[in-house]
Amino acid sequence: MKTVLTGITTTGTPHLGNYVGAIRPAIAESRDPNTRSFLFLADLHALIKCHDPKQIHQSTLEVAASWLALGLDPEVTTFYRQSDIPEIPQLTWILTCMTAKGLMNRAHAYKAAVQANEEERSADPDAGITMGLYCYPILMAADILMFNAHVVPVGKDQVQHLEMTRDIAQRFNHHYGEHFVLPEARVDESVAVLVGLDGRKMSKSYNNYIPLFVPQKTLRKMIMRMVTNSQGPDEPKDPNCPIFEMYRAFATPEQTEDMRRRFHEGIAWGTVKQELFELIDAELREPRQRYEELMRHPEHIEAILQKGAAKAREISAPFLMRIKRAVGISALG
Ligand code: TRP
Repeated sequence: MKTVLTGITTTGTPHLGNYVGAIRPAIAESRDPNTRSFLFLADLHALIKCHDPKQIHQSTLEVAASWLALGLDPEVTTFYRQSDIPEIPQLTWILTCMTAKGLMNRAHAYKAAVQANEEERSADPDAGITMGLYCYPILMAADILMFNAHVVPVGKDQVQHLEMTRDIAQRFNHHYGEHFVLPEARVDESVAVLVGLDGRKMSKSYNNYIPLFVPQKTLRKMIMRMVTNSQGPDEPKDPNCPIFEMYRAFATPEQTEDMRRRFHEGIAWGTVKQELFELIDAELREPRQRYEELMRHPEHIEAILQKGAAKAREISAPFLMRIKRAVGISALG
C-alpha cells in the first residue's frame, strides 16, 4: 500500500488553476483503493508568508470547504490541519538538529529573498527574512516524514524541498537507525496549467485568478474578461491559445476536438467564452452549492478536522515516541 501525502498552504482563496492542477487529480487519486492518502491544511507554513490573522483564518476555512465540496471524503482520506498535530513541530525540532545549515543556505526560496535584498543594495542580505522562511523546508520534512509518505504530489517549485526531506531523513536514518521512509516528489506534467485573466500563469501571486466558487454571474463576467487577440468573429483562430487550453481542461476529448475544428473554421471569441463558461459552470454548480452550505456551517468543517486530527494522531503520537526514544528522550524508569 502506497502512502500519498500533500499539504496546502492556507494563505489564499482556491482558484480554477488550483482545481485543475492539484485538487481534481488529488481527489481522483484519493479514491484509488491502493493508496492511503493524507491531506492537510498547512497553516503553520502559512504563518511564514502571511502575518494577517484574518486572512489565515479565512483561507483555512475556504480551502477546507473547497476540498470537501469537491468530493474529498474524510472517511477515506486523513484530512487534518497541521497545527492540530503537536507532534509535527516537535519532530521539526528533532530534525532541525540533524539538518546542516549549509543545506538551508541553498534553498531556492531563501536564496531568492537574499538576492532580492542584494539587488536592492540593502546593507543586510538577510533583511526581512525570518527564521520561519529559512527553516521552511524542515517543517515540510516533518510533515512528510511523520506519516512515512512514499509519494508527495507537488508543484515543480517544491521539488527541492523533497530532495531536502530525503537528505534530512537519510542523515537521521544513518545516525539513529532506519526510522524514516525516503519520500519521492511527484510532479504531474500532464495536468493543465491555466492562464489567468492577464495572460500569465494563473496564480495567487499575480492576482490574476478566477476563484473557484464565485457566484455564477461573476464567473461568467470573469471568463468574458479574459484576454484574447483582436481577431474578428469569422476569422480562423489558432487553438494554441490559453482559452482553448482552459476549454480542454474541462471538456471531454470529443468536445475538445469539436472545438478545435470550430477554431479553424472561425468561431467568435464571445461564443468560445460563453461555451467555456457553461462547461465550467456545469462542473462546478453542485460543488458550489455544497461549498456555500459548508461556508454557512464552519462548525461542521471544524468537527471534520477534529476527527481527522484524531485519526492522524493515532499515527503521529506513537511514531514521535519512537523517534524520541531513538534520540535518547524517554522515561527514566
Ligand atoms: N510547501 C507546500 C507548497 O507551498 C505546502 C506544503 C507544506 C506541503 N507541507 C507540505 C506539500 C508537505 C507537500 C507535503 O505548496
